[in-house]
Amino acid sequence: MAEVATQTCPKCDSCGKYDRRILITGGAGFIGSHVVIILVRRYPNYFIINLDKLDYCASVKHLESIKDLPNYKFIQGDICEPDFMRYIFEEEKIDTVMHFAAQSHVDLSFWSSLDFTRTNVFGSHVLVNAAHEAGVGLFIHASTDEVYGGNSVKALTEGAKMNPTNPYAATKAAAECLVSSYWESFKFPVIITRANNAYGPHQYPEKVIPKFIALLERGSKCCIHGDGSAVRNFLFVTDMAEAYDIILHSGKPGEIYNIGSDFEISMINLAKQLITKCAIEGDANDLIDLGDDRPFNDMRYPMDSSKLHHLGWHPRVSWESGLQQTIEWYRNPDNFDSWPSAVEALRPFPSGSNTMRISKERMQRYKANAEK
Ligand SMILES: NC(=O)c1ccc[n+]([C@@H]2O[C@H](COP(=O)([O-])OP(=O)(O)OC[C@H]3O[C@@H](n4cnc5c(N)ncnc54)[C@H](O)[C@@H]3O)[C@@H](O)[C@H]2O)c1
Repeated sequence: MAEVATQTCPKCDSCGKYDRRILITGGAGFIGSHVVIILVRRYPNYFIINLDKLDYCASVKHLESIKDLPNYKFIQGDICEPDFMRYIFEEEKIDTVMHFAAQSHVDLSFWSSLDFTRTNVFGSHVLVNAAHEAGVGLFIHASTDEVYGGNSVKALTEGAKMNPTNPYAATKAAAECLVSSYWESFKFPVIITRANNAYGPHQYPEKVIPKFIALLERGSKCCIHGDGSAVRNFLFVTDMAEAYDIILHSGKPGEIYNIGSDFEISMINLAKQLITKCAIEGDANDLIDLGDDRPFNDMRYPMDSSKLHHLGWHPRVSWESGLQQTIEWYRNPDNFDSWPSAVEALRPFPSGSNTMRISKERMQRYKANAEK
């Protein structure tokens, strides 16, 4: 890694020197906010700059506990703006990037996929290009297990072929290709991570675990795409954030690291467990709605994370403890109200034929406007 110069903090004149100046994108979102909190608290000698557009799924409330610390700064901004990003690298003298900003909801990507290309592909390209021009010493790019495609029976290592099957995963795979091309072409020091599903506090309730908890707490049913047999691996979000700390300090440029958990569960069993843990009375089958499936629904994404285990990372939070912490966090109305649109996120997502209907309606509206 390139040597990092010590800088004086631009936030105040009296707080001394910093050993690293780390730009974290998407730090008001789910995973990014936990990474920001861990790094700000653990490394007072690092200056952490959190750049986030504050999209519908973000909340600065997640960062209340650290917002006034001298080694933290928040900037509202869009990674898709090349001049702005160049300015940030120069002005803030960034030496390390941890890139989490993304459009991250698979369901949304089926009918709004161009927004995913813009942020996940173009935005990542703008960012890695600006980081390269600025001579940044390390660029960590957060990608997903979904780039592997979801029908493997054996646990995949980092060398497995990418085979994305939905627009979200395809944009993440495309971004990976762009980021790794800067390593291949320029030996620009990039690291790519591919992570399982994370769960825990701060996750916008469009995602399955907070959505089911919030629905059950409001007396509604869990709505599942398809027959509920699709399986997902889940990792508690603080374990995920710890993985990024280890990769930041011990990861090798040019490498890819899987961040996986051995814990997997089908969607139907997840709903049943949440019904029990939320202490909802009645027959679980009456509290589950099986709806149309996604246009394409991966079955499972088993990953082999031994490469990361060799760096010293292992998940520490058990499923039982993680789920309990998550339920308690979402039960608190103050937490649920972190996002103005949280209640809207609980509506069943258009899926299968619904998605086609919505696309058709959009097209008809577009044609009608064009003919005016
Ligand atoms: N959550 C998971 O289970 C999971 C699993 C594997 C990989 N990932 C990846 O990890 C990263 C973080 O995921 P997450 O679940 O925290 O996502 P999230 O949707 O909760 O947060 C994304 C953040 O990015 C910000 N953002 C979006 N577009 C932006 C733009 N153009 N400029 C600046 N900021 C922008 C949003 O405001 C939000 O705060 C993503 O890259 C995602 O693909 C997530």
